[in-house]
Amino acid sequence: MRAYRASILSFATDGESGFGAALEEDGLLVVGPDASGRQRVQASGPYRQLKTRFPAVHIEHLPGRIIAPGFIDMHNHFAQTNVIGSPADGLLPWLERYTFPEEQRFSSAQYSAEAARFFLDELLRNGVTTALSFATCSTESVDALFCEAQRRSLRLITGLCLMDRHAPAGVLNLAAPDRSRSACEQSLLDSELLLLRWHGKDRLGYAITPRFAPSCSESQLQGAGHLAIRYPEVWIQSHVAENRDEIAWARQLFPSSASYLATYADFGLLRRRAVYAHCIHFDDQDRTLMRDSGAVAAVSPTSNLFLGSGFFDFAAADRVGLQYGLASDVGGGTSFSPFHTMLAAYYVAREGHSKTGLSLSPQQLWWQHTAGAARALDLEGVVGNLQPGCEADFVVLNPQATPLLGRRTAQASNLDELLLAMIVLGDDRLIERTVISQAQDVLLTIDRP
Ligand code: GUN
Ligand code: ZN
Repeated sequence: MRAYRASILSFATDGESGFGAALEEDGLLVVGPDASGRQRVQASGPYRQLKTRFPAVHIEHLPGRIIAPGFIDMHNHFAQTNVIGSPADGLLPWLERYTFPEEQRFSSAQYSAEAARFFLDELLRNGVTTALSFATCSTESVDALFCEAQRRSLRLITGLCLMDRHAPAGVLNLAAPDRSRSACEQSLLDSELLLLRWHGKDRLGYAITPRFAPSCSESQLQGAGHLAIRYPEVWIQSHVAENRDEIAWARQLFPSSASYLATYADFGLLRRRAVYAHCIHFDDQDRTLMRDSGAVAAVSPTSNLFLGSGFFDFAAADRVGLQYGLASDVGGGTSFSPFHTMLAAYYVAREGHSKTGLSLSPQQLWWQHTAGAARALDLEGVVGNLQPGCEADFVVLNPQATPLLGRRTAQASNLDELLLAMIVLGDDRLIERTVISQAQDVLLTIDRP
């Protein structure tokens, strides 16, 4: 076991009341292995109370630092690091001009492995310790991301991208080499084989991954829905209602569905553990459909601002009770930093011309990227918080990391002021250390050089 003395940020666990954040100014975080050797939080609370309970445990003192739960990125694309910031008129031209050509390169196992290493290192440098990620249509890309995540003992969920139409041949799912199976059949078989190989291994999870309805044939969506029924514990991830042209296209391809979102429901792809990126252009029927199904939204504000997609309606989601959490959506998104994502979410929520504008509280923003995202992913009590029993994934923040951060955070007179100052001014420099729970009584610690 080991212990860390610092200020400790954690969140209430009483579910419905949501994001009550608390900062223990002089706190102690004690971590140690459970019966299987997995590192978990053993205790977290005031230093003066806890130090006597753990007299033999070595304490690392981190004066002036804040320990907080590792961040959770609810939606990103490991194959899109190289297309961050690519200029385009909007989603569909951006996909065609930059994203599909880059993703085509992931048919190489070697290319995929190098990209996976860079991507995961970048997440960790930015304090992200859990991610739900898109791979590409190549099985090599999925194996590479799982392998590298397993090597780091990361909690990572990914899956084979299902896309059997409406993209260049080199980026689509492939038919069996001997033509005995179509691309659709092969992609579903590969999904199942990858799921059986990886889901539940260490901290890895599988996600059935139809890219979005326009890129999948009816048979492929139907097959994905069958997999979702046969394997209720795996996740589902896709995109919906991001961009007006995309929506018009989806409606044209699936005219008998009541809405773009309803298309997914019609194929059995809305359920608990289903995560849909964007969810911008929804009406209340969509929100209700999603809420009732148990599916959740991955709100991706830097991506939505960059691609000019629109503004997620936080007030409407809250009114209906639609669950959501925050996501980078790299490479449509512009940053790996959770601080940039939270700040963009703040701007998007404030926008009051296309919808009701509101000021999200700093505690809520932070919760949506940690404990709230864990709840949306059905991982509450597992990650995203520092309550006893949670896996020991955390970050050490240095509020003095830059002269401006030091100056501004010193002025904060309450927790909301402190959190918003870090959200507005923070980036990877604020993350002094990222610690991830490992098996076998080891913690992987990544320190800023
Ligand atoms: N819709 C379908 N594919 C994508 C993608 O790669 N990025 C975004 N932002 N939206 C999508
Ligand atoms: Zn995406």
